[in-house]
Amino acid sequence: MSGPVRLALLIVAVGLMATGGIQVSHAAPAAGSAATLGAGPAPAAASAGGAATRSFYAERFSRRPTVAAMTELGRRLFFEPRLSASGKMACATCHDPAFAYGPPNGRSTQLGGPDLRGVGLRAVPALRYLQTVPPFSEHHFDEAVDDSVDQGPTGGHGWDGRADTAHDQARLPLTSKFEMANPDMETVVAKVASGSLAARFRAVFGDDVFADPLRGSTAVLLCLEVFQQSPRDFYPYASRYDAYLRRQGTLGPAEQRGLALFNDPRKGNCASCHPSQIRHDGFPGFTDFGYNALGVPRNHALPANADPGFHDLGLCGPLRTDLGAHPEYCGEFRVPSLRNVALRRAFFHNGVFHRLEQVLAFYAERDTNPGKWYARGAAGVEPFDDLPAAYRGNVNRAPPFGRKPGAPPALRGDEIRDIIAFLETLTDADLLKGSTRGRPAPAPGVTARFARSSGPPSARRRGRRGPDRAPSGPGAGAARSDG
Ligand code: HEC
Ligand code: HEC
Repeated sequence: MSGPVRLALLIVAVGLMATGGIQVSHAAPAAGSAATLGAGPAPAAASAGGAATRSFYAERFSRRPTVAAMTELGRRLFFEPRLSASGKMACATCHDPAFAYGPPNGRSTQLGGPDLRGVGLRAVPALRYLQTVPPFSEHHFDEAVDDSVDQGPTGGHGWDGRADTAHDQARLPLTSKFEMANPDMETVVAKVASGSLAARFRAVFGDDVFADPLRGSTAVLLCLEVFQQSPRDFYPYASRYDAYLRRQGTLGPAEQRGLALFNDPRKGNCASCHPSQIRHDGFPGFTDFGYNALGVPRNHALPANADPGFHDLGLCGPLRTDLGAHPEYCGEFRVPSLRNVALRRAFFHNGVFHRLEQVLAFYAERDTNPGKWYARGAAGVEPFDDLPAAYRGNVNRAPPFGRKPGAPPALRGDEIRDIIAFLETLTDADLLKGSTRGRPAPAPGVTARFARSSGPPSARRRGRRGPDRAPSGPGAGAARSDG
């Protein structure tokens, strides 16, 4: 985030505090802790600009909630399946803490809705390291790169950035018919008001917290947002690469080679979109929060794609509705963080790939061997088959892309293995296989049903790195959702 933007945001945050509004950021963790060393700027959501955001934080409660109390309430809500229409789906069903708050299985997209058979469109993102996502902006200037150059669309939550803050984002799954499927926020608030957390909400926000539906929903969304900014849970900066950056650990030879290939503008060139170095504003998030069209192959496992006329075009729609008049944005999705990426088994916005090897091979050979990735049309192989022809010019052609068909791939097999070895150093220590800290105890009050559906760690972890296997069960392979 650039200096001026950050300054403006801080002024908003300080203004809120001065007017008695709510301060959502967590107190800085103890000096010398991992989180302090890794900390970026103040959580973006805490200081997001915009009138709607300002009025959200300006909501007055009759008691002033503390960050600690809101964090604990948010944690309970996050694991609470009663908040869904089905009574079976919590935020944590899709955003599992053992997977950096990403999906616990290899489905391209997850099931949801009132009967848990609803289908959406997109892979579930991990929620760790989102604390610095700036609010969406069409024009972004970054002093760390060159603050005279407009970097274009940046920030916002979700693959298309359509939610400015974590509290706006939380509203979407709570009321999406593909997900938790409540008709509206009033229904959600009524469930909280009649549930086991009601007394605690009254104690924290005041006895009248449920008297007005707007106040009630603000309290619920605020708790979810504050929980998602808890440093210990969401940004521990506890990977081996963080230790390496702190000069408290080393990387092995393959990992070192992988890092060099990742950074090299003529080889992986990955760091041009997934920055890997410490910057003025903190440890690397492995995303510049920008948007690119990579021409990811169409995922024929998604039911929506049975209609050849349907396209998920990211920034320009159809889920996002305000940028439809910008054909130059069609096909663009937000650059995801690569922290904890080795825990994932569904990659890219449509979950089309299930192994990192496939993702890397795609980067290396998208343009040199298009037949490997794209369907054959009447006129032969049709590159970028998930985009209408009119938008194929939007696809990025900088390295590692941009080579001629038949040319050698941008990365050899051994180089791909080295990059993957490096990516594996980005997994937080508490999530590594065998780590007991990788299984956060369910929050008190988490129902046995949720705990059961999560399954024992051994069963759920088995096969994570195994071969790409089709999910089984009803709706398998066709499962999808959007948040
Ligand atoms: C059915 C699965 C599902 C459930 C349940 C769910 N989400 Fe999500 N979540 C998703 C998907 C899919 C996306 C990506 C949406 C998109 O880009 O359109 C997402 C995106 C997000 C994001 C934005 C991440 C980013 O990279 O910017 C946040 C934050 C989030 N969810 C929080 C929550 C919270 C809080 C809850 C519970 C109130 C919740 N989610 C429940 C599937 C789910
Ligand atoms: C031009 C910018 C750009 C470059 C260069 C780039 N990426 Fe990406 N990366 C993206 C974008 C954008 C996405 C999401 C695309 C989508 O889903 O449609 C992505 C997605 C990914 C994903 C999937 C993550 C997930 O959670 O689904 C991985 C893994 C990844 N990139 C690794 C790499 C590696 C390794 C390199 C270098 C070989 C690289 N990227 C180079 C922009 C870039």
